[in-house]
Amino acid sequence: MKNVISEKLSILNQEHILRYYKELSESEQEKLINQIEDLDFSVLDETGAEEVRGKIEPLYATTLSETEKNKESYRKTGIEAIRNGKVGCVLLAGGQGSRLGFDKPKGMFNIGVDRELYIFECLINNLLEVVKEANAWIPLFIMTSEDNDRDTREFLEKHKYFGYSGDNVFFFVQEQLPTVDVKGRLMLSAKDRVSTAPNGNGGWYASMVKSGVLKTLNKCNIEWLNVFAVDNVLQRMADPCFIGAVIESGKESGSKVVAKAAPEERVGVMCLEDGRPSIVEYYEMTDEMITAREADGTLSYNWGVILNYVFRIDRLNDILGMHLPLHRAFKKVKCVDENGNISTPDEPNAYKFETLVLDMVKLQDSCLAYEVDRSREFAPVKNSTGVDSVDSARELLRINGIKL
Ligand code: UTP
Repeated sequence: MKNVISEKLSILNQEHILRYYKELSESEQEKLINQIEDLDFSVLDETGAEEVRGKIEPLYATTLSETEKNKESYRKTGIEAIRNGKVGCVLLAGGQGSRLGFDKPKGMFNIGVDRELYIFECLINNLLEVVKEANAWIPLFIMTSEDNDRDTREFLEKHKYFGYSGDNVFFFVQEQLPTVDVKGRLMLSAKDRVSTAPNGNGGWYASMVKSGVLKTLNKCNIEWLNVFAVDNVLQRMADPCFIGAVIESGKESGSKVVAKAAPEERVGVMCLEDGRPSIVEYYEMTDEMITAREADGTLSYNWGVILNYVFRIDRLNDILGMHLPLHRAFKKVKCVDENGNISTPDEPNAYKFETLVLDMVKLQDSCLAYEVDRSREFAPVKNSTGVDSVDSARELLRINGIKL
């Protein structure tokens, strides 16, 4: 073994990850050493301390009624941009979906009841409506992770991209970061593999650039990227009105928002932080902020984000090297136990580290908060039952006239 590796691990107090080294075959040893050489150890310095926030103030959104008045113009501007190839879509599908407890990529989940209707299919059906209206294919970039890349590609190929044009679908794989146990020690997912997890959805643009898929962008005229989550089955991508509203506003970015269902709803809300657009998480809000109201009676912090943003590429390039805060999430992580067996815990046992796309909003000089109707555009599938679940999403799909 290279001495430099064991010295490094010893300084970091992480030598235990080599405890099975001698048992491994030569190729397994090489594999492990190569992985350790590439690991980003900076997560070991993470203390989990909350980020210090600036001055938070309400931010006003373009409301449904305002959009209604300008709908024709927004739609025309948006469709024109799409038709001229200025818009690309980025589907964030690298998450682990651990709360849903489905062991395949979330997009492969069948939300149908009497027929097959996959989450990927719901999203693509919505996108196809725009393709039809614009009479132009929209490049669709799909971010996967090391764990789910193969399944995702095979599934979409097998289903012929649910009617989308395969020539306009581009995959890229996001980066991984090590996970640590409650004592801050690295873990093994196999005797020859350090446990890692996808690095969150905030690294999407950096991963796009690193993967080389960006060359596709350079060949095209794309100026705007619409980025969104896989798990909202009513998600509308490349929504012409939204894109048109952002373009006409002259702002650098846009975020779809929904009016909060209740003051205590557990959703991040758009706000101004030191005068810049930002998102404050529900657990960061004081009681005073939760209940504050404007003169017309609406909540001051009313606009919940639904993970559907539009960013301008030149601005994304400007912020590419900028630091995004690392958030820790406590999760169940499969690992090699003291007896050398791989076990899956019943309770969360490890921290994974993530950067979040919502933190990119703060790096924008301006962001249009654009209200959408939650009953028509927001049906997240996070859990199998209860709030934001398969059950609630099915109900919302039915309300929207989609046969299950
Ligand atoms: P979530 O925050 O719900 O995370 O992702 P998750 O990993 O899918 O689910 P849980 O928390 O383990 O239950 C929101 C969106 O961001 C994507 C997800 O695929 C989803 O579209 N995401 C999340 C990534 O693409 N990569 C990540 O590393 C994390």
